[in-house]
Amino acid sequence: MMMVWESFVFHILTVIITVSLGVYTYFQWAFKYWEKKGIPYVTPNFPFGTIKLFSYPPLPFGEMCKQYYNEYKAKGYKHVGLYVFSRPLYLVLDVEYIRNILSKDFDHFVDRGIYYNEKDDALSGNLFTIEGTKWKNLRAKITPTFTSGKMKMMFQILVESGSHMKDAIDIMRSKDSAINIKDTLSRFTMNTIGSYAFGHETSSTTMTFCLFELTQHLDIQENVRQEINEVLKRHNGEITYDALTEMKYMGQVINETLRKYPPSACLNRKCVKDYKLPDTNIEISSGTAIAIPVLAVHHDPEYFTDPEKFDPDRFSEENKSLIKPYTYLPFGEGPRICIGLRFGLLQTKMGLAVLLKNYRFTLNEKTKLPLKMDPFSTFVSNTEEDIWLNVEKIKQNEY
Ligand SMILES: *[C@@H]1O[C@H](CO)[C@@H](O)[C@H](O)[C@H]1NC(C)=O
Ligand SMILES: *[C@@H]1O[C@H](CO)[C@@H](O)[C@H](O)[C@H]1NC(C)=O
Repeated sequence: MMMVWESFVFHILTVIITVSLGVYTYFQWAFKYWEKKGIPYVTPNFPFGTIKLFSYPPLPFGEMCKQYYNEYKAKGYKHVGLYVFSRPLYLVLDVEYIRNILSKDFDHFVDRGIYYNEKDDALSGNLFTIEGTKWKNLRAKITPTFTSGKMKMMFQILVESGSHMKDAIDIMRSKDSAINIKDTLSRFTMNTIGSYAFGHETSSTTMTFCLFELTQHLDIQENVRQEINEVLKRHNGEITYDALTEMKYMGQVINETLRKYPPSACLNRKCVKDYKLPDTNIEISSGTAIAIPVLAVHHDPEYFTDPEKFDPDRFSEENKSLIKPYTYLPFGEGPRICIGLRFGLLQTKMGLAVLLKNYRFTLNEKTKLPLKMDPFSTFVSNTEEDIWLNVEKIKQNEY
């Protein structure tokens, strides 16, 4: 009996050791990929490659791209090879290369390369992940939703949910002057979006980050509020579609929020046709995953002076032409630019107009600073902890 047991254990151990060795050898072979291509690369470690999601503390994917971007751009490189486990990931550093991939040579880079399974999981087969021809067909079907006429109809829904949000905040405020803003806003956007089947946390996170910055810059908060009141005076106090369009400074504030906190910290593409990099002998092979480090570019002092500073004047009429093309990519760029964008921006403006017209915001001490991004939020950058704001009601005769 003992003999049988020992031989069983021996066999199991042999299998485990052989499989481990096999996997390890495979990784060592896979980890030669970028070296063979002649592309500079970050030295990978078994088994995670170059990702730092499982280190302590875990580093969000976009922040990791930013770290490698800064390190390898400083060395004068235009690109760098990474590994997600054993899988090669091409990280673009050069703005000209970014332009080529997103626009000029777009036909080589159609797909996003994010997992989706339409049959088993209808929700994951949305516009964001769907690939190739399917994507083109679906987009053709959906685009009419976003014509100006439809937009004005959908606007009515925004107006109603804006007023519900205000009522909800008034009730919350009567219990406690501090509110969990992330939570409140995600309910506002959910209400609106619910009836329209899209999908996107983008508006609520943008509003959240925007209000957070406005508590750090009370002068800017006051300027936005003044603009809202001035514009609304011209529109009989009603938040109409045209009124929101006239709120230019608010537009700058939203743009600056999207620069500092881009909803997608990293854009994903997949090479679908072998691609020779211009003026080199290097070829990116079909099937290669591509990462465009939006967060890193938005925080690069070469393109945005004093990048950590929240400064809406970067987007003023006078200054916005100074922004180098393809360095501001809050929604991607080129043929695949996010089509829900116009609606999302409108929703964000509506939310901010209702909030800033009615309330003054300051940061509550329950908010943990500095804000930390959640390393495991997959699509939209989000904070790990809640953001608490003190809400003070504005008497409507103050203005
Ligand atoms: C344009 O940018 C400069 C430098 O950042 C700034 O001093 C100036 O106020 C900005 N202009 C406007 C109209 O915002
Ligand atoms: C904000 O960014 C969008 C998209 O890049 C652009 O179309 C718009 O003109 C910008 N608004 C301002 C005020 O700069």
